Amino acid sequence: MDKVTIHDLHRMKTRGEPISMLTAYDYPTALLLDQSGIDVILVGDSAGMVVHGFETTLPVTMDMMVMHCQAVRRGAKRAFLIGDMPFMSYQTSLEDARRNAGRLLVEGGMDAVKLEGGQHMAGTIRELVAIGIAVQGHIGLTPQSVSQLGGFKVQGKTVEAARQLLDDARALEAAGAFSMVLEAIPARLAELITRSVGVPTISIGAGAGCDGQVLVTHDVLGLFDRFTPKFVKQFANVADTMRGAFEMYQAEVRSRTFPGAEHQFTMPDDVWDVIQSELE
Ligand code: KIV
Repeated sequence: MDKVTIHDLHRMKTRGEPISMLTAYDYPTALLLDQSGIDVILVGDSAGMVVHGFETTLPVTMDMMVMHCQAVRRGAKRAFLIGDMPFMSYQTSLEDARRNAGRLLVEGGMDAVKLEGGQHMAGTIRELVAIGIAVQGHIGLTPQSVSQLGGFKVQGKTVEAARQLLDDARALEAAGAFSMVLEAIPARLAELITRSVGVPTISIGAGAGCDGQVLVTHDVLGLFDRFTPKFVKQFANVADTMRGAFEMYQAEVRSRTFPGAEHQFTMPDDVWDVIQSELE
């Protein structure tokens, strides 16, 4: 199968074909997602919460992201790969933004980067696009600003906030973003934004009117225990499967059922006879 490109994603918007996107942080998940035919894999800074156990995404570093990106790159050959820029890797200066976005592409093997923020980030996006880096924007609930937003809350519910989100979306497109994530936005507003911009919008809690959908894979699999936002649908209960396997393993170790004969190595009889006779 051919590798998914930005042109494919834009064509999908034009044709009204929904874009599927999920997160991955490691090789086996990337491999399985790729085999399943997913269009886009996001190596999200949500890794900080669902893999590393932090309360927020803020402690995630560039080195952590590069390592996650490399693992995903090894597993996924077909999907379009987007690496998330962690907090303070692009807000500090244009030079930092260029260097760190470049690291996700060169060291991490990503096809594009994602960064959070609306109008105020348009200049940074323009700079990255100018040097050949494809950028996905992210507006609405932007988890890196969680304390400023007063928690993980739905955005754009007042006239002023809704207008600002529309302006943000237009600013991202004008700056050259190839796509944008809309997070935790009322569905009607997200649909209006989707009709107002020419690039694909990807919803996470922004309803069915967007051009595509993304969720955090650990939420989809039932592998994140802390909280489940309203917009998450759990498609499997992998936690129960894992817990069951761990309990069975322990029971078999304790009862000496595992390892069985089929899991053990044999020694040639003539070697064994020599060793045994030397010890007797
Ligand atoms: O980090 C992440 O996984 C994200 C998605 C929630 C869009 O930014």
